[in-house]
Amino acid sequence: MRMKDKVCLITGGASGIGEATARLFAREGSQIAVMDVDVVGGRRLVEELTANGYPALFLEGDVSEELSARHAVDNTLSHFGRIDVLFNNAGVSAIGDVVECPPEDWDRVMRVNLRGVYLMSHYVVPVMRNQGGGIIINMSSTIAVIGLVSRAAYAASKGAVLGLTRSMAADHSRENIRVAAVLPGTVYTPFVEGYLRSHFADHMDEAKDNLKKRQLNNELMSAEDVAQSVLFLASDEARFALGTALIIDGGVSTAKVFE
Ligand SMILES: NC(=O)c1ccc[n+]([C@@H]2O[C@H](COP(=O)([O-])OP(=O)(O)OC[C@H]3O[C@@H](n4cnc5c(N)ncnc54)[C@H](O)[C@@H]3O)[C@@H](O)[C@H]2O)c1
Repeated sequence: MRMKDKVCLITGGASGIGEATARLFAREGSQIAVMDVDVVGGRRLVEELTANGYPALFLEGDVSEELSARHAVDNTLSHFGRIDVLFNNAGVSAIGDVVECPPEDWDRVMRVNLRGVYLMSHYVVPVMRNQGGGIIINMSSTIAVIGLVSRAAYAASKGAVLGLTRSMAADHSRENIRVAAVLPGTVYTPFVEGYLRSHFADHMDEAKDNLKKRQLNNELMSAEDVAQSVLFLASDEARFALGTALIIDGGVSTAKVFE
């Protein structure tokens, strides 16, 4: 059990990568607090975890709202008594280049993906300081280091999360608060499935095949694959991963196959 008795607060934990991480961390001995705007999905997951004997708590909340962020941290603390790991995972996307992306989409993406990471960390760092340390893992994306068409707001937000991660590592490593980022490539989650359904509804299989072809191993990455990377970053084995940007992307950012 690599996370025995650790308390982990996972934002966006009701679905996709967050949900897979919650399940994996629970199996590894962790006590889980899931924060999400999705009340139905979040409650369902937490009920299932607790029914299987894993300590878990659902916190309804929006990471981009100051009060929500503060309450989630306070409630996790009063329920479990400490916060060992914060996984800043909640995120949204928007399609379009800088011309196509309307200002309200830009603001929404920045609020959730960047302000959300800032706000949750703003309230969690003092808790970790008081207890003598902790680990914060921020969800960035491979898009922080490569360009991708039609994702202007999303790319900007994930690039900013990477910059914030490195600054947080510089600021807090000496306080025994380890900060790192995970940078997945395309992961087949409800996030990506929803995009494919809305843009390629009549040829989903072809769209999925095209995604596979971008990977060097010609396979779609699953939420569980990313959860394993998050587990590594959250574990004691990663004690030298300070400000680390862990890319897990099927090789998309490092090489390209021309056939
Ligand atoms: N799926 C991919 O290909 C991929 C690749 C790289 C990075 N990511 C990032 O991974 C993270 C998780 O993505 P996923 O694919 O699992 O998506 P998902 O849509 O399956 O899950 C995201 C979760 O975040 C929650 N959420 C959204 N806005 C929120 C808010 N304001 N406050 C609290 N919760 C909120 C959603 O309700 C949902 O449960 C996101 O930050 C995403 O940008 C995803």
